Amino acid sequence: MNGKINIAIFASGSGSNAACLIDYFNEHPKIAIRTIVSNNAQAYVLERAKNNGIASQVFKNEDFVSGKSVLKFLLHEKIDYIVLAGFLRKIPDNMIDNFQNKIINIHPALLPKFGGKGMYGIHVHEAVKQAEEKLTGITIHLVDRIFDNGKHIAQYSCEIEDTDTVETIAQKVQALEHRYFAPTVEKYILC
Ligand code: GRF
Repeated sequence: MNGKINIAIFASGSGSNAACLIDYFNEHPKIAIRTIVSNNAQAYVLERAKNNGIASQVFKNEDFVSGKSVLKFLLHEKIDYIVLAGFLRKIPDNMIDNFQNKIINIHPALLPKFGGKGMYGIHVHEAVKQAEEKLTGITIHLVDRIFDNGKHIAQYSCEIEDTDTVETIAQKVQALEHRYFAPTVEKYILC
């Protein structure tokens, strides 16, 4: 193999965070993005993988229920860490047990606020705006058996002005994601 610590990125959508991770770890001496795993054959992240020469693998939604075939694939690919970058399925328990403290997620809000069921994508920023929060941000955290519950690795915040809209809040949060996700993953893995 490549002698590096191998990451599998799981993503269901556009994959702008996956792209930042791919860029950041390109030619990294110790860490490699080995593959992109998706549950969505139409996801733009697959295009990004292709354009960057990164292998990808699509599994059916059902495969993420028992997790058997996905786990077999990850073990075969000698994956050390899983990084969730906009992955919309729940991670099966067998995968969590096999990758204890080695599955990292990014959430576009300051957990424990605005997490849990239905809190993904624009819904998160709508809820933040509705609640008239003065601060929002990102949470990079470990994944355990309960949704959005794992130990926090890092949080970064930004201020919300009265003039901010749901869209501008989303832009501010995405800027934090693109700036901090990859270096935080690197620091966590190498520490
Ligand atoms: C990000 O907001 C991330 O925090 C959340 O899903 C979104 C993925 O966006 N978990 P992208 O596909 O990386 O652009």
